[in-house]
Amino acid sequence: MSTIINIADVGRYEGQEVTIRGWLYNMRSSGKLRFLLVRDGSQTIQCVVFKNDVTEKVFEETDTLTQESSLIVTGNVAADKRSPIGFEIQVKHLEVVQIAAEYPITKKEHGTDFLMDHRHLWLRSSRQHAIIRIRHQVIHAARKFFDDQGFLLVDSPVFTPNAAEGTTSLFETDYFGSKAYLTQSGQLYAEASAMAFGKVYCFGPTFRAEKSKTRRHLTEFWMIEPEVAFFDLNDDMKLAEDFVSYIVKNVLDTRKVELEILERDISMLEKVTAPFPKIHYNEAVEILKKKNSEFRYGDDFGGTDETIISEEFDRPVIVHHYPAEVKAFYMKRDPEHPQFALAMDMLAPEGHGEIIGGSQREDDYNELLKRIKDHNLPEEAFAWYLDLRKYGSVPHAGFGLGIERTVGWICGIKHVRETVPFPRMMQRIYP
Ligand code: 4AD
Ligand code: MG
Repeated sequence: MSTIINIADVGRYEGQEVTIRGWLYNMRSSGKLRFLLVRDGSQTIQCVVFKNDVTEKVFEETDTLTQESSLIVTGNVAADKRSPIGFEIQVKHLEVVQIAAEYPITKKEHGTDFLMDHRHLWLRSSRQHAIIRIRHQVIHAARKFFDDQGFLLVDSPVFTPNAAEGTTSLFETDYFGSKAYLTQSGQLYAEASAMAFGKVYCFGPTFRAEKSKTRRHLTEFWMIEPEVAFFDLNDDMKLAEDFVSYIVKNVLDTRKVELEILERDISMLEKVTAPFPKIHYNEAVEILKKKNSEFRYGDDFGGTDETIISEEFDRPVIVHHYPAEVKAFYMKRDPEHPQFALAMDMLAPEGHGEIIGGSQREDDYNELLKRIKDHNLPEEAFAWYLDLRKYGSVPHAGFGLGIERTVGWICGIKHVRETVPFPRMMQRIYP
């Protein structure tokens, strides 16, 4: 009996008989030889079928194999200098599981719409493998960073009776006869969790009915959100820069091969070390003015503005003290300059835009009640949230990092649609 292995582990089995199970990526023939390129999800390896080494039936069968046919291959592992993974398999036996129908994704160029319609198959390609592996690593590193510092994972619900980030981008759903919304951010519940446990984070899918068709917007995206009691804006910015530089370093340390497949210029990523530049909203506006942008003082930044600002720096930049008017109801105002919110956004370099949004939260009961009323939010739905300011209120702060935009930036991909396995956008819910 030979051992069933993952192709990625093949190096441990030189000279031994192994079995791999996967899909045919490509095949070429030469006389009595057939060279099968087999992928099992962990890696791809060349399997060499020599006519004299297998039964006649098996040899004939190899000629019927089509791209993506599924198969089980048994053979000896031999070192091979020309192979990208250093080994090949000399086939002794081959079992065909299924002969694949004509595969729609071929070596010729396909348009993005076509590939997006075939996302369920496109995920098998090497470029998509690299992206999804880096996504995995970003999530792993993000969670490890918090876990190692004593944060507790306390998840927030997905169905909510209230809005967190404005009422214009809410997905509404029927909840047994009353209205519920898909969460836009786990923050408000994370605040309750922080008052219970001190240092927490939540991690889950978040939803926004974004009518904007930009390369940075999904309707369903994943956010990781720390929330910390007794934290102010400065603590929050420090946590954010340590967090992001940790994630980038972790990916650089573990995913060089994938970054290479994506032809990512890693010299840009190597510069991502804390501290990051931190600028006041007013300074960001100065940058925009110098670059002749038509930006109006007091507005929030749009995608183009973010690109212009971030181009001034070689690493992520944090912009703080946004005008309170354009920011969320829960943000605390600067006591000395109440026109500004104690808010901060982190903008990724190379035009990737905002990856983090965060703030110090309003911790005063009356101030918060006033904001809820000013924003025309339903007071009853926020009664529990106001309670947090009644029973042992403390200064606290947190932020949310969007996984897809972070993956897009690290991978150097302009559009977020490739950074999530099955993207949801205004005009896409299939497959
Ligand atoms: O800046 P946002 O809206 O902040 C919040 O939701 C806060 N409640 C988070 C907190 O303080 N706990 O969103 C945070 C991040 C953005 O910086 C961006 O990376 C990502 O979430 N994001 C999106 N990513 C993809 N598609 C969208 N439509 C996104 N909207 C926000
Ligand atoms: Mg934001």
